[in-house]
Amino acid sequence: MAKTTLQRLLAKAEAAALVQDMCRLQKVPVCVCDHDGTLLFGNPAAVESGHSAPLIEGGRVIATIKGENGHGTVTALLQYLVNGEAERMALGRETLDKYREVCLLCDFGAKIGSCLDTKEVVRIVTEEIRRIMAADVIALLLCNDAGDITEVFADHGNRAEHLTMPLTPAELSKNFLVTPVPEIVNDLAADYRFTGTQGVLSSAMSTPLTMREKTVGYVCVGSRQKTEYLARDLKLLTTLSEQAAMAFEKSLLYNRLKESFYAMVRTLAETIEKRDPYTGDHTRRVVDYSLAIAWRLELPADQHTRLEMAAALHDIGKLGVRDEVLLKNGPLNSEELAHMKMHPTFGEEILMHIKPLKDVIPGVKSHHERCDGSGYPHGLKGDKIDITARIIAVADSFDAMTSDRPYRKALSRESAFSELLKHSGTQFDAAVVEAFLSAPVQERLGIERHGRMKCS
Ligand SMILES: [Fe+2]
Repeated sequence: MAKTTLQRLLAKAEAAALVQDMCRLQKVPVCVCDHDGTLLFGNPAAVESGHSAPLIEGGRVIATIKGENGHGTVTALLQYLVNGEAERMALGRETLDKYREVCLLCDFGAKIGSCLDTKEVVRIVTEEIRRIMAADVIALLLCNDAGDITEVFADHGNRAEHLTMPLTPAELSKNFLVTPVPEIVNDLAADYRFTGTQGVLSSAMSTPLTMREKTVGYVCVGSRQKTEYLARDLKLLTTLSEQAAMAFEKSLLYNRLKESFYAMVRTLAETIEKRDPYTGDHTRRVVDYSLAIAWRLELPADQHTRLEMAAALHDIGKLGVRDEVLLKNGPLNSEELAHMKMHPTFGEEILMHIKPLKDVIPGVKSHHERCDGSGYPHGLKGDKIDITARIIAVADSFDAMTSDRPYRKALSRESAFSELLKHSGTQFDAAVVEAFLSAPVQERLGIERHGRMKCS
């Protein structure tokens, strides 16, 4: 059991000695008993006929001091020491609370500070704030530019839900507390603004989420049982929300930047198609087939993005091929063919100047390599060829075989599948061919398209 202020005080040798010295000096023996009569100091036998006086802490009697006439000075000394000890303890508790709060904020900041994905920011914010505030419910309500709430992410303790909007004002006030300024409502049922709504929460706190002085949403936490939220709880929630707003802003800026970058990649891909009209929708189909293979091979998510960009840009080097070669309506002679075979190298040279596309280069420069080493430009073999290039090779060849060319008709899909199988393990990576042929047909033929270079 935790010691009382007086017990802690008298346990200190210097404090007990000071009281004893004062008793000796005043020639007044005293004894001190706790509020339940437990002796804490002195000899009761020596002061049997004495008078009593209370010792007070926080307006409450915590002990009784008994002594012969003249014990007032000793009582005053003890009361002074008790006051000092209580102040020190309160200061210690406050310092500890502040330290814990700083630790919580640092931990929260570290978790969301490095997060650039908006969905992940929502997940961390809802999970962490609910845990830190020990709330039954947390809701993150986001507004559009007009200030209307358009998205609600709520966590009732199981997992975060993304609620369909619009919610009516009645539905909002039934489930959440939304206020334009930070506010505590410890008894929602008694608040005239919520009468008749019979909400799920008994007590709640709300604070606006602001970015550059503009309200972009609200954070609401609450409990099903009546709870006494204090001003310091609201201050903590507000500080956490400020950190959350900064993380949101950063993730939104990053998404915008990413979207601009992907738009540039799409523009580059379209430029290739404009240059070589015979390719038609070739690039889009190669991207779709490549992603179907990646899903079947269960490549990690970051490889999908790299593959998607490499597939979109695989023939960008054709920008460096002379018109009379690229647009020739018939078979190429040996010099023209050698020039055309330079396009993977031209592609590498173009992309090496764009730093964020560094990881895309292996897929572009090696998409005409063959697993048996008979490809170009470097005659690489097997897994020396980047996986994105091995995938693009299959997707590119399949689409080339199944597309009409000025000098030949398209093969049927079945004939093209047979060709892929015939050259599996020699020209093509056997596992990639297997993945392509076993991918669900709608994916293989690009009917169902996966998340394509969009910011989520
Ligand atoms: Fe090519």
